[in-house]
Amino acid sequence: MTYNFDEIISRESTSCIKWDARQTVFGNPNVLPMWVADMDFKSPDFVVNALRERLTHEVLGYTYRPESYFDAIIRWVERRNGWVIEKEWICHSPGVVPGLNVAVWAYTQPQDRIVIQTPVYPPFFDAILKNNRTLIENPLIANGDRFEIDFENLDTQLQGAKAIILSNPHNPTGRVFDEKELLRIGELCEKHNVTIISDEIHSDIIMKPHRHRHIAAIANSRFANRCVTFMAPSKTFNLAGLSTAYAAIPNPELRKQYLQVSEQQLHLGMSNLPGLIGLEAAYTHGDEWLDQLNSYILGNIELLDALVKEHLPRIKVYKPEGTYLAWMDFGALGLTDEELDRKLIGEAKVGLNKGITFGANGKGFRRINLACPRAYVQEAVERMRRVL
Ligand SMILES: Cc1ncc(COP(=O)(O)O)c(C=O)c1O
Repeated sequence: MTYNFDEIISRESTSCIKWDARQTVFGNPNVLPMWVADMDFKSPDFVVNALRERLTHEVLGYTYRPESYFDAIIRWVERRNGWVIEKEWICHSPGVVPGLNVAVWAYTQPQDRIVIQTPVYPPFFDAILKNNRTLIENPLIANGDRFEIDFENLDTQLQGAKAIILSNPHNPTGRVFDEKELLRIGELCEKHNVTIISDEIHSDIIMKPHRHRHIAAIANSRFANRCVTFMAPSKTFNLAGLSTAYAAIPNPELRKQYLQVSEQQLHLGMSNLPGLIGLEAAYTHGDEWLDQLNSYILGNIELLDALVKEHLPRIKVYKPEGTYLAWMDFGALGLTDEELDRKLIGEAKVGLNKGITFGANGKGFRRINLACPRAYVQEAVERMRRVL
């Protein structure tokens, strides 16, 4: 079966943040919204049908995660990225971001040092700062067409740190860290006895020929005992509205600490019914759909890059190796951030994420979401071309 990702679907008035919150977010209700990380594609038919079928039983009470849910996760993670996980390791979370916050509470104390690699997904800052922990940055370094890890600085920054929060694949730079890079991160975390909180929510959205590796699984699972790995079907199958994610925590002590906060203190352990049904259907039937999705997104990435090179040559696109998000450097235009906003939002009417929200080194950048029909990518470049 061939899925049609070109289909234009109106999402207006569906309580959808990307389209319905444009006035609030951009001060302009007419921008072409290419910001928050969900997709303008239909969630897959096999997920929607499973939800419909469940609704024929009209009792929607409290949930209990069945064996089939755990089996679906275990088989998916092994099939897609070769990591063999066990049922006991899998802890429910209503989202990856709530899970990151639980992990910060579970493994660190106020004032403890936590490292992140900037620019990075804004809630990483909040998970540290709003919980009164100390933020330590290891800025990624742009090298040619990609961002790389400054390992010397990472070694320094990890001294005395309790945890690192990784984004892999990395939002917003699109890096899929390779085995060598992950090995060096793991070795440094071993050296400084640092817990690795690894946000791998984008691990299914991988552009060929890149390959996702779970840091917990590399080097014969050498680092597994210090890793807490977050995953979810939400980005992969456009199910973010179902608020369903999970952590895989092999180390029983780390797992106990996590569950103490998540289940005993906060009572977050019970999954929601649509999320359970959606996850299981997606992970059971989703391979072909996902392969086609990834090819389509790669097409969008190539198109954006080609159009920008042709029409906006002073803007640099960092082509993502994973995620459907591209990081764009507008710095060569010599505009202030406010001037750039006036051009992009006020004149071009394109709604992108502001780079500065990903850290100080995101100044002059914007993040564009390419999980949309190809026509939107063309339209966005056309709109920008007219004003820049
Ligand atoms: C790196 C990363 N982590 C987490 C999330 C969101 O996770 P959730 O909606 O499950 O809280 C996103 C969404 O964009 C993300 O990019």
